[in-house]
Amino acid sequence: MNQHILIWDIPTRVFHWLLAVSFAGAFLTAESERYREIHVTLGYTLLGLIAFRLIWGFVGSRYASFRSFLFKPGEIAAYVTSLLKAKPARYIGHNPAGSVAVFALLALGLLTGLAGVIVFQDIGGDALEELHEITAYAMLAVVALHVAGVVLSSVMHRENLVRSMITGLKSGLPNEGIRRAHAWLGVIMLAVVVAFWLGYPATGPIPQNVNVTQVEHPHEDD
Ligand code: HEM
Ligand code: HEM
Repeated sequence: MNQHILIWDIPTRVFHWLLAVSFAGAFLTAESERYREIHVTLGYTLLGLIAFRLIWGFVGSRYASFRSFLFKPGEIAAYVTSLLKAKPARYIGHNPAGSVAVFALLALGLLTGLAGVIVFQDIGGDALEELHEITAYAMLAVVALHVAGVVLSSVMHRENLVRSMITGLKSGLPNEGIRRAHAWLGVIMLAVVVAFWLGYPATGPIPQNVNVTQVEHPHEDD
């Protein structure tokens, strides 16, 4: 008998939504000098989240573990074929097509973030700046495919995957679910990220008593 079972542990869900917020925020603040601190803060957050996810992929719960969604090319092709026939095979964890997007998003996030750090440290030069921008846009394209895939799978399986990524629940057999949500780790992640957002940059806000009219070159946009 199918019932609601826990699939996504809390750290995976906290990771996902913080990653989405960090990516969107970093993207929206990328153009202007004025928002550079926010951009860099969110970029570092994204790097920290991915570092966590790389570890969690080895020690995390069943459906968070990379082993559970490392598919062979043949399995990916078979899944895509089943999609095209409008009879997609159902996977409780990530499906084979979705898993490709997941690995691509992790890789592009890592690459974009690392290139950003090098550019920020002024050691990269034009090529790294170019790379940073190209990988960021490539990631945007994969995010669009990812969201389209989530919507398509949700419709075809008549199953709300977005809600699953929020509640952690899907319908399935009791023995397919995970036993522990690891809520404590999710709480720690949230606390660390919020503390980082509030504490960065280490220099803090501009002191109130500084006479800004004395500044000869105020921040210019771009
Ligand atoms: C991983 C998420 C990130 C995304 C999506 C992202 C995206 C972008 C994009 C699209 C630009 C180009 C803006 C333009 O047209 O000028 C840019 C510029 C920049 N980013 Fe990021 N970035 C990310 C992370 C980071 C990180 C972690 C750092 C530094 C620690 C960083 C530092 C910079 C700097 C310094 C620039 C300006 C480069 C220039 O002068 O053109 N970024 N970012
Ligand atoms: C904006 C940037 C986004 C990024 C970088 C991103 C990235 C990811 C990653 C890395 C995973 C794998 C989760 C894991 O196993 O750790 C994932 C899964 C998922 N994401 Fe996103 N995501 C983004 C936006 C969204 C949005 C806007 C939605 C909702 C419409 C969404 C819905 C989902 C769902 C439902 C899953 C689970 C897929 C499944 O059932 O196999 N994502 N996403």
